[in-house]
Amino acid sequence: MSTDAIVLLREDHKTMRRMFKEFQAAQGGPKPKKAKIVGEILEALTVHTYLENEVMYPEVRRLLPALEEDILQAYEEHHVADLLCLELSTMSPEDEHFDAKVTVLIATVLHHVEEEEHEWFPKVREGLGRNQLQELGRRMIELRPKAPTKPTQPKALKKALDAINA
Ligand SMILES: [Fe+2]
Ligand SMILES: [Fe+2]
Repeated sequence: MSTDAIVLLREDHKTMRRMFKEFQAAQGGPKPKKAKIVGEILEALTVHTYLENEVMYPEVRRLLPALEEDILQAYEEHHVADLLCLELSTMSPEDEHFDAKVTVLIATVLHHVEEEEHEWFPKVREGLGRNQLQELGRRMIELRPKAPTKPTQPKALKKALDAINA
């Protein structure tokens, strides 16, 4: 299995896209099914965001200062998604805002993921060597079991709290 950081992050993106399609297919279907899919989406996003925030973004920022602007924008895009995830984690599919909020979350995340894949990853691959990307990937694999899985966990909220306390 590859430990290349970009390969690993792309695999996560692929999983998310699959879950988003499942949600879209379940629209109009039974509410418990939608709730289950959204639970899985929130978990996948929480883990992925944690790994990017803890390893990928700060390390790329340190190693490739020219990409700082992209990373600052990524933090803001994640922040919007984090807020939606946090709200959804307290909502039931009975809520009239539920489907609309999930739809906005999906659109926000897809926009961000497409930017990462089409613009950001190619710049990172060009700037970092194979060994550096494998090392970053190893660190993410190691950290994954310790990542928060719910948007309300303190580790998941850390970035937002840091920004307020800064
Ligand atoms: Fe990201
Ligand atoms: Fe990502």
